[in-house]
Amino acid sequence: MCGIVGYVGSDEAGNFLLDGLRRLEYRGYDSAGVAIHCGAEFTITRSVGRIDSLAGALGDVMPSGSLGLGHTRWATHGPASMENAHPHLGGDGEVVLVHNGVIENFQVLKEGLIKKGYTFVSATDSEVIAHLVADELKHAPETNGQPNLRYLAAVRAAVAQLRGTYGLAIAFRDHPNFLIAARFGSPLVIGVGSGEYFVASDASPLVGRTERIVYLADHQLAVLTPDGFSVLHRDQGKVRVDIRPLETDSGEASLEGFDHYMLKEIYEQPESIRNAMRGRLDDENATAVFGGLNLTPQQLRSVERIILTGCGTSWHSALVGEYMIEDLARIPVSVEYASELRYRNPPIDNNTLIFGITQSGETADTLAALKETKRKGHRTLAICNVVGSSIAQAADGGVYLHAGPEIGVASTKAYTSQCCVLAMLSLYFGRLRHVSFESGQRIINELRQLPAAVQQALACDEQVRDVAKKYQDASTVLYLGRQYNFPTALEGALKLKEISYIHAEGYPAAEMKHGPIALVDEHTPSVFIIPRGTTYDKVMANMEEVKARGGPVIALASRDNPEVESIADDVIHVPEVPGFTQPIVNVVPLQLLSYHIALLRGCDVDKPRNLAKSVTVE
Ligand code: M6R
Repeated sequence: MCGIVGYVGSDEAGNFLLDGLRRLEYRGYDSAGVAIHCGAEFTITRSVGRIDSLAGALGDVMPSGSLGLGHTRWATHGPASMENAHPHLGGDGEVVLVHNGVIENFQVLKEGLIKKGYTFVSATDSEVIAHLVADELKHAPETNGQPNLRYLAAVRAAVAQLRGTYGLAIAFRDHPNFLIAARFGSPLVIGVGSGEYFVASDASPLVGRTERIVYLADHQLAVLTPDGFSVLHRDQGKVRVDIRPLETDSGEASLEGFDHYMLKEIYEQPESIRNAMRGRLDDENATAVFGGLNLTPQQLRSVERIILTGCGTSWHSALVGEYMIEDLARIPVSVEYASELRYRNPPIDNNTLIFGITQSGETADTLAALKETKRKGHRTLAICNVVGSSIAQAADGGVYLHAGPEIGVASTKAYTSQCCVLAMLSLYFGRLRHVSFESGQRIINELRQLPAAVQQALACDEQVRDVAKKYQDASTVLYLGRQYNFPTALEGALKLKEISYIHAEGYPAAEMKHGPIALVDEHTPSVFIIPRGTTYDKVMANMEEVKARGGPVIALASRDNPEVESIADDVIHVPEVPGFTQPIVNVVPLQLLSYHIALLRGCDVDKPRNLAKSVTVE
């Protein structure tokens, strides 16, 4: 979603701003803009579409100045247009700001400002904040020799009136030597350089510019000048903050010869899974170990119920986790959409542990669900990829995925790492209860086979490409699987929808007869995930039912399975692995299938329409 960059120092601001915005592209956006203070005022350049058009609009000679702001906008209030693109001006142009988040009471505030004579050029909620700050400046007391205090007072007074979420970077025409940043519910980081300071919505623009970072917390404001920075609470005084080392993998990702990030990330999975397990398998005790759960084994032993929550693909990994934890650790699990959990107010017993699962660590609904359950006194943990993200900070503890930056909007390697972490947690909880030493060892061995099995699954790429050619024009595709492979069916369908815009549905295979089978005809392919195991015969019967109605069948099955070969129109071979690791292996051909179909249909694989990488609004 929207991205923010800001610079104050002695260098040319434009270089950092444009490069920083490119690094934020992965978040998803539909317009962009920069404001650079060039002497007496700001030069503002905006464009609709990609950063390349912004670069084109800026031309060969970047406006010169050492203070500036930049923004990528993912439209919420008003369409993607030049008027709605940030930065926005307040008053007669004395305030310029960029904003991430959503202001819920913007309409009321706007009406009040219009009555006072302010005119609006955009449909955004963000422009309201710019005028509000300008209006507050009129009442802010003079502060002799320290103009930033007056401006700070105006920003404080303005943000106190906002209901909703904001990450703000604000600059002032008449005092081009400081920036003010403010955060509530929308992440912001400060990059600490020497004689220069940066603000950004995540760490990726800072890589290569500084090695020190500060994560702002909600209700905090920061004042940045070329000589230093200070952080304050919105309603109180100065706050001491930790300056942390910037993780080197925070955003430095290149294609390394792949055509798209999604493909690269699919191929990285053997390694990302290895990284998720590194140092976490304990042979001596036949269990898993986690450094950051912040709970004693006794506390974990007393857990009677687990809630797994997340959105989108992370919600699918929660479903995989439900099967794993109940199967291996025998703890009842419920899976909740974070967006529902945050408002549903379900009764939650004592001794319930809540896991928020998230790649970005910034998903607004997951963050809100965790905060709400934490407020009620429950233990909250995060399974998260992005170090230092809002959810990682808000939870009582958690497990990092160590999957490296995931740039493709469609989540791939983060998903398999989430499943892998959930498998290790199942082992851990199981070993605190009934799982024997011997079974623990077996599970560890099976986990260790995973990177090789995923590598083997990747070998189906050529085969999948042929299948993609055959079905690229389908308008609906069904994905069917049972037990551990039901979430895989959902995830396969989501991947196809997201990047190829083909309508796809995932179901437990047996559910098909209860409705979806009505969709089956010769133009509607069904993808069956059919490994050998308890429900194999039942899924075979479902496959026959689809064939009997003329529906094309694509089967994911092991190589030596003549029975499946004789029924399916196309078979994609996957290695045979134990039930609980199947979701991690079987999803790989489905990721590749969506990738190839999207490519053949000419879709923008890494930046699919309407989607954002971190969904930081409700
Ligand atoms: O960063 P998160 O894991 O919290 O994101 C949750 C969803 O927005 C995300 O998984 C989304 O569904 C992806 N586009 C899936 O590919």
